[in-house]
Amino acid sequence: PQKVLLFCDPGIDDSLAIIYGILSKKIELVGIVTSYGNVNQEQASQNVAYLLELANRKDVVLIGGAKGPLSGEFTPFYPEIHGEEGLGPIRPPATIKGELLNFDTVFKIIEKYGKELLIVDVGRSTSLALAFNLAGEEIMNSVKGYYLMGGAFLVPGNVTPGAEANFYGDQLAAAIVTGKVKNGVVYPLNVTNDAIITPEIINLIVATENNPYQPLIKSIFDYYFEAYQKLVPGIKGSPLHDVLTLFAISTPEAFKYVERKIYIGTEENDLRGVTIADFRPKPDIKPGENKVAIAMEVDVQAFIEDFIRVMTN
Ligand code: BDR
Ligand code: CA
Repeated sequence: PQKVLLFCDPGIDDSLAIIYGILSKKIELVGIVTSYGNVNQEQASQNVAYLLELANRKDVVLIGGAKGPLSGEFTPFYPEIHGEEGLGPIRPPATIKGELLNFDTVFKIIEKYGKELLIVDVGRSTSLALAFNLAGEEIMNSVKGYYLMGGAFLVPGNVTPGAEANFYGDQLAAAIVTGKVKNGVVYPLNVTNDAIITPEIINLIVATENNPYQPLIKSIFDYYFEAYQKLVPGIKGSPLHDVLTLFAISTPEAFKYVERKIYIGTEENDLRGVTIADFRPKPDIKPGENKVAIAMEVDVQAFIEDFIRVMTN
């Protein structure tokens, strides 16, 4: 299995991504870094601790990440989509605190696993940007690569007309990270909006599943689906942005990629967090500028089949 260090902000689709990561035989979660984003960092940590406890996976280390963006200016949390405490209607028991290791554990994990390690970030980019600033590019790029969920290229955003939540939430950090990562792949709304899982699929999973997460999966999904129905009239299910990003680990061939430099709106105006890339046939790129692969299309059927397979074991 692929060793993964996951940066996240659970959050419902983050939680389903963690569950998917724990159940998948092709993924070995070695650590989880929790940050603010969908909820505050303390809540995100408690939620991850709860998910790990349910599966008795205390071997997965829990690391405290950023509590706010680099600018110091918070975007609001999203209780209407993810629930007051990030798990829809569910409250993790107060007895579960989640013991957080210091942030420098990130560097110990990178040193330990090197090229065997894939870093996946499905939350705001703040913690990763801090890691690049603290450790430098040589150490950070000694890993196998990076998968980043964020951005929206020539398609509508989901928090402003043009911006997606993760890259909008800390646009400065997103610019730092996409500008520095080697072997970076970005999974934007262009593909994650297609990763629609319907209530019928969830019912099927819950009816056949034999894993420790029943009935959590159904209650958090139902909450998330209700929220999406208000956002997108007529939608048949909910996009599992963060799960799709983990699916790419086992099935990169389900995506079509283009390799480009990314530009991100870093100013506090209508272009904040907006992503563009040079899609002209002969893109401009200056020496020393960084390119990432951007996933532009996905085989949705392959994702759905894999999701059902992993979630039902
Ligand atoms: C991203 O924003 C978050 O709210 C979701 O968890 C996902 O990571 C989608 O824009
Ligand atoms: Ca997320």
